[in-house]
Amino acid sequence: MRARILRLAHPAALACGAAASAAATALANRQRSCCSAACPSQPLLERRRPFTAASLEGLVDHSDVTYAELKQGTELASLAAKFFAENGGSCSFRLDASHPSAAERTRETLACSMHDSPVRPALTSPRRRTRVRLGYGLFQAEWQGHRVLLLHQTVGAPKGTVNGVDMHSDLILLTPGSQKLHVLAAFCDELLARSDATDPAIVKLYRFKGRWRQKTVIAARAMESVVLPSAVKRRVLDELDDFFEPSTVEFYARHGIPYKRSLLFHGLPGSGKTSLVQALAGRYGLGVCYLSPTEEDMTDASLKDALQELPAKSLVVIEDVDALFSKTRQRKVSNQITFSGLLNALDGIGSPAGQLVVLTTNHRDQLDAALIRNGRVDTHVPFTYADDEQMRLLFRQFYPAADEVLAAQFAEGVLAALSGRRVSMSVLQHHFIANRKQPAEHAAQSAHLILEELLLREDEPSFSL
Ligand SMILES: Nc1ncnc2c1ncn2[C@@H]1O[C@H](COP(=O)(O)OP(=O)(O)OP(=O)(O)O)[C@@H](O)[C@H]1O
Ligand SMILES: [Mg+2]
Repeated sequence: MRARILRLAHPAALACGAAASAAATALANRQRSCCSAACPSQPLLERRRPFTAASLEGLVDHSDVTYAELKQGTELASLAAKFFAENGGSCSFRLDASHPSAAERTRETLACSMHDSPVRPALTSPRRRTRVRLGYGLFQAEWQGHRVLLLHQTVGAPKGTVNGVDMHSDLILLTPGSQKLHVLAAFCDELLARSDATDPAIVKLYRFKGRWRQKTVIAARAMESVVLPSAVKRRVLDELDDFFEPSTVEFYARHGIPYKRSLLFHGLPGSGKTSLVQALAGRYGLGVCYLSPTEEDMTDASLKDALQELPAKSLVVIEDVDALFSKTRQRKVSNQITFSGLLNALDGIGSPAGQLVVLTTNHRDQLDAALIRNGRVDTHVPFTYADDEQMRLLFRQFYPAADEVLAAQFAEGVLAALSGRRVSMSVLQHHFIANRKQPAEHAAQSAHLILEELLLREDEPSFSL
């Protein structure tokens, strides 16, 4: 027999075909013994090939083919199905009614704002649409000079589910000829690479729950829209521009140093920490992986796994690091994470492609020195109350047509009205949103409203920076 089989769930499976087939055999044996014990009269369900000669008839010779199963529910299976639905000359589809995905909504919003379209994407009631999925059948496509086929078929008996009667289905990827695993593997690699390709307009957000899952996408935030004291912003950008330069990659590799950079964003709430993360992700074409080590089921092992299995081209944000341990290393949460486990996990980060880690806290003074020592945290970035420069720059962000003089007048007005009090950037933003229908002059001359807003929120705590 010249055909070859491998089950592909992830490229790693290609490297360990023997292990995968051993696991599959063990499972099959278990099922067999279970079946004969529980239902001795039923024939064994066994298949050596996931298709029959008839299922490939007319398109490929079943005795001279290399094939791989794509496990249903895996990323590769859905990427392959999508590829063949779009490129496989299919006449067989399944249609579902669905709400637009977060990615579609974000792209739609961006398109409308770019073209100044009168059609406004409704945040509250997005239009439902028909989602096209690949139907059953045998599909083929030309890919880089190779013929690649996908068999999508039902297997087993119909079964009842909460959504009615359903059938199990599987996907088999094939290419003519024996010993052609490299073609299938390269095809799958390209599907993954296309999926990982970053659209500069959007940022993928991931959360960890046993493994990293993409939760949603957001529009990339423009770096200019994050207003920080210019020296602080310049320092962060210079440092990261340098970090992502090819010569830096080469330097780290030559010296055997883990290629990573860790930043601590510390300061008061509403001062731009999350906003800067999102702008950095857009600037460097990275996804953002949010990790909350305070979650109930986090252990040292799962924290380490999370940091070592980060999705490609992503930065990781560990939010509110002060919520884990006190300055004397007392645990503040009820999960199993230990202080040394946290340090080990942070020290283990690093990948040939580079890893960017951002720790955030509102209370740097409550962190143990070991957690933020040099080497573990490279750069401390303070997020403070708005200074005079930030007031002027934020004013120009909201009123780009206004001149410097009006911006300066606004800043002076705010500082005078506050008479010694300080204000966060988010409170200033609130002022501009509240006055968005007013001309720039009005926003500049109504700085006293900011004081009124602050007095309403008098309970604002003070923060150590
Ligand atoms: N420096 C800034 N430049 C521009 N906008 C800002 C800035 N700081 C805050 N904002 C605005 O205020 C809101 C809150 O900002 P953000 O979420 O970045 O704050 P944060 O520092 O992460 O707060 P927290 O510590 O509570 O997580 C956002 O809508 C953002 O647009
Ligand atoms: Mg935040």
